[in-house]
Amino acid sequence: MSTRIITIDGPAGAGKTTITKLLSQRLGCVYVDTGALYRGVAFELQQQKINWEDKAALENFLKNLDLNFVMENDVLVLMSSGRNITDFIRSPEISMLASSSSAKPQVRAALLDIQRNIAKTKDAVFEGRDMGTVVFPDAAVKFFLFADLNVRAKRRFDEMPDETKDIQKVQEQMEIRDHNDSQRKSAPLRPAVDAIEIDSSILTIEQVVEKMLEYIEKACKA
Ligand code: DC
Repeated sequence: MSTRIITIDGPAGAGKTTITKLLSQRLGCVYVDTGALYRGVAFELQQQKINWEDKAALENFLKNLDLNFVMENDVLVLMSSGRNITDFIRSPEISMLASSSSAKPQVRAALLDIQRNIAKTKDAVFEGRDMGTVVFPDAAVKFFLFADLNVRAKRRFDEMPDETKDIQKVQEQMEIRDHNDSQRKSAPLRPAVDAIEIDSSILTIEQVVEKMLEYIEKACKA
């Protein structure tokens, strides 16, 4: 029996994570935030002080990488060599390092099996940058979620607990990440040809989820 896979791709701050969680609850399946895996790689590169521009050093690092997800009370927990690193992967530094190191084809190849193995046994909603284009080209329904840069930056800014936060800086870093993620040669951020594109700048989270459910229902009836 094959599993049902839904993909949601799009830039940072488009609402992917919140929407993926809500959608998976409504569908009664698991959600997978693949950005967390790239953040896990960045965290370990930083911790182990790896010169990831050095091909041999990066390959050796990836050989020993042991990342996986576990579900704890409906929350996705990222484990690295048995250690819970979920709370350490959301800093602006890790965001930037995840964006630049994820351009390396070796990094992307190392994470491919982890993602596809989850999909073998579970119905799931996967969110990321290349879910519909590379990782799951045969997904049942593919979405591409986007929003205006200033709307995305404001959302990210509002989520940050840091008192010294600066909206201008948040927007600048987001623009750099958008550029890195969409201009890289390996699996760039772009909508799959058969993706349904949704602009979340003008919709509430609930409206986006309802819209997606309508598309999924239609696609599954067809
Ligand atoms: O979704 P996020 O902001 O947590 O992702 C962090 C970085 O990881 C993002 O800037 C690019 C990279 N990424 C990727 O290249 N491919 C994915 N499927 C998910 C994330």
